[in-house]
Amino acid sequence: MSGALTVREAAREDIPAILDMLVDDDLGKTREDASEAGRGIYDAAFDRIAASDNVSLKIAELGGEPVGTFLLIVIPGLALKGMLRVEIEQVRIASTHRGKGLGRKMIGWAVGEARRLGAGMVQLTMNKSRTQSHRFYESLGFTASHEGFKLYL
Ligand SMILES: CC(C)(COP(=O)(O)OP(=O)(O)OC[C@H]1O[C@@H](n2cnc3c(N)ncnc32)[C@H](O)[C@@H]1OP(=O)(O)O)[C@@H](O)C(=O)NCCC(=O)NCCS
Repeated sequence: MSGALTVREAAREDIPAILDMLVDDDLGKTREDASEAGRGIYDAAFDRIAASDNVSLKIAELGGEPVGTFLLIVIPGLALKGMLRVEIEQVRIASTHRGKGLGRKMIGWAVGEARRLGAGMVQLTMNKSRTQSHRFYESLGFTASHEGFKLYL
């Protein structure tokens, strides 16, 4: 397997590969359902993403093989003089491909895309237990300047 990392819009057929990457993770394995029975949940979620103008599910490939994924959300707002933000979430590089610079390339692509869309900021939240991934984002120039709060409903 070789070649450059490419990033494209995910299609419905990519759901199993993306789900594999979401599960292939210390936190993801306890909270996702990759069984055939669980598939309907993810099909419906994909439909909601596809119907949204501001949300985009991406898949990154190396030589045609899926190796990464993330969600890119464009957030308009009034604050900061109407600054457009891009949020990136659900970031994964397949465990067999981690530590080889692919995450850096994939997030670099996302930042470039945010610029292209006219955003003035890229933001993300991450579970506090992911201490190694905190270092990953800091090495890419992100600053842990805010506290994130979640209220599960
Ligand atoms: C975080 C993640 C996306 C990084 O992707 P990756 O391809 O492994 O990272 P890269 O190989 O591009 O590494 C980029 C830099 O971060 C550092 N880094 C990446 N993962 C690291 C880790 N687990 N521990 C320490 N440093 C790490 C690397 O040293 C590298 O720095 P360098 O280029 O100066 O050597 C990937 O490891 C992953 O999917 N992790 C599990 C899920 C997760 O934490 N997602 C993010 C929050 S939702």
